[in-house]
Amino acid sequence: RTERLQLVENIKRLLKQHNAVLVAHYYVDPYIQDLALETGGCVGDSLEMARFGKEHEAQTLVVAGVRFMGESAKILSMEKTVLMADLEAECSLDLGCPIDEFSAFCDQHPDRTVVVYANTSAEVKARADWVVTSSVGLEIVTHLHEQGQKIIWGPDRHLGKYIQKQTGADMLLWQGSCIVHNEFKARELEQLKAQYPEAVVLVHPESPDSVVALADVVGSTSKLLNATKEMDSQTFIVGTDLGILHEMQKHSPDKLFLAAPTAGESATCKSCAFCPWMAMNGLKGIENCLQTGSGEIKLAPELAQAALKPLQRMLDFAA
Ligand code: 13P
Ligand code: SF4
Repeated sequence: RTERLQLVENIKRLLKQHNAVLVAHYYVDPYIQDLALETGGCVGDSLEMARFGKEHEAQTLVVAGVRFMGESAKILSMEKTVLMADLEAECSLDLGCPIDEFSAFCDQHPDRTVVVYANTSAEVKARADWVVTSSVGLEIVTHLHEQGQKIIWGPDRHLGKYIQKQTGADMLLWQGSCIVHNEFKARELEQLKAQYPEAVVLVHPESPDSVVALADVVGSTSKLLNATKEMDSQTFIVGTDLGILHEMQKHSPDKLFLAAPTAGESATCKSCAFCPWMAMNGLKGIENCLQTGSGEIKLAPELAQAALKPLQRMLDFAA
């Protein structure tokens, strides 16, 4: 405990010293989330993190999340230094969508608009016409569909299918998935719902469609968090990485939050919904990157420029 307090104090000092700000996702260690908020940084979903990093005046952004989040921050602010606790913090969606294969897929369908999820490499973004996050994907595809555009969607097949169902758009889907959300189980969720019939079910759209079909609220991490603040219900079943429970419980200490069941459920792990890459963010790693400049995101300027176009298009659309 005293070691942790010392680390926190040291990071606070280093942030000031380096004119740096902490930009964190809801899935990282609660201590990092609290530290980000205490020091004038942000905790948010992917879109909010990107926007915050771009608009903030700090010269250095410390991104507590996974690599695509650090890369998005860098693409949007090439003049800033972007540091991460661990550059090995990947994402199964990004890993499952290598640029060569994805580019060949796009080349086979030159008549289609390429829409990619933010959970991708800078190279994949640079190949796209639009980047979207889960908070604006539905609106952007609706817009493109209304214009009569046919779409290539990558990499998350569940989010793609959800958007396709909602919009009726013509979408060819890349077959990627998130190793965390893919594990939620519909049958077990139904049983939990039967036990708590009054509970509101919150599901992130990276989950399988059988799970999404049981949800009362489907959306980005921020949308799910807001639902727990705004809805009167006392009980919520949470179908996303459980790191988000920290903010949910903080805002609504009297409400009951239950983890949506996963395949990995066991006596020691009530729900195994924890992203192993998000867990690579620790206070020690943050201290280290600020102290030594390690974990810096570096991108070739031409690549960043190409990836900026579809990313900026999203920010302008969502403004
Ligand atoms: P959000 O943009 O909803 O925060 O999602 C990011 C993510 O990686 C979810 O697994
Ligand atoms: Fe990627 Fe899934 Fe982890 Fe989100 S939870 S960063 S989508 S692997």
